Amino acid sequence: MNLKGAVALVSGANKGIGKEYVKALHDMEADRIYACARDESKLSEVVALDPQRIIPLALDITSEPSIQAAVERCQDVTLLINNAGVGYDAGLIAAPDLSHARKEMETNYFGTLMMCRAFAPVLKQNGGGAIVNTLSSLALSNLPFRGSYSASKAAALSMTQGIRAELADQGTLVVAVLPGTVDTDFSKNSDNPKTAPDAVAKAALQAVINGVEDVYPGDEAQWAIAQLTSDRKALEKQMAQQLPKS
Ligand SMILES: NC(=O)c1ccc[n+]([C@@H]2O[C@H](COP(=O)([O-])OP(=O)(O)OC[C@H]3O[C@@H](n4cnc5c(N)ncnc54)[C@H](OP(=O)(O)O)[C@@H]3O)[C@@H](O)[C@H]2O)c1
Repeated sequence: MNLKGAVALVSGANKGIGKEYVKALHDMEADRIYACARDESKLSEVVALDPQRIIPLALDITSEPSIQAAVERCQDVTLLINNAGVGYDAGLIAAPDLSHARKEMETNYFGTLMMCRAFAPVLKQNGGGAIVNTLSSLALSNLPFRGSYSASKAAALSMTQGIRAELADQGTLVVAVLPGTVDTDFSKNSDNPKTAPDAVAKAALQAVINGVEDVYPGDEAQWAIAQLTSDRKALEKQMAQQLPKS
């Protein structure tokens, strides 16, 4: 897919990787970029890059009315970038209750799925286009320290594979982006080596250009997919070692 002239929508565009998606799309000469955030007032910095082409929009991906309003406004979208996500440092058993686990599923799985379902007809009417789902290398194997987050991203990976098959006939490319730790607020408590957020956005967009379905930005993600391919069980055991000892 050629990104020059594309019309993109990016969720969670006010910060982190989402903001870098907008910047990269702007550099790649997308015609229009709908930069979305729950709080539209947080978009002023990214919109200031080019107010003619970067359009701010309020969007909460867990709210059906909010998604519906975005669909009605953005009927020209050819590239949907699902980037918004939440994650907590919470174990599956250690967490005091299921509130974080439910929020991760509501946002990372159901929210992303609702966005794909809402925009699939728009992409179809505009010739097929592409969907980019920003997942995580933790979708490949559970990191118990972030157990419920890993599970939500694994569900989102399975969902991504399913919609890829369902949307193949309408010519929509569906890209799964599975980064390791990225240098954003999201991972501020992590000591792992971090990939720059602009590198993740650029790798994802290059995958769209090249028609690549799965992309693993950063050394950590490259290591995870190599381990998964060579010895899935060994990967699980190595991830388990990162669980804090009680
Ligand atoms: N950073 C990492 O290490 C890492 C690694 C792998 C994958 N990822 C994934 O990359 C994506 C972006 O994360 P990031 O690192 O850029 O984190 P971030 O800086 O915390 O940004 C997360 C973005 O998602 C938005 N968001 C959360 N819930 C939302 C909702 N219900 N509706 C709309 N927007 C919502 C946030 O908006 P507010 O500002 O309103 O909260 C924020 O704009 C996420 O899907 C994350 O899981 C991150």
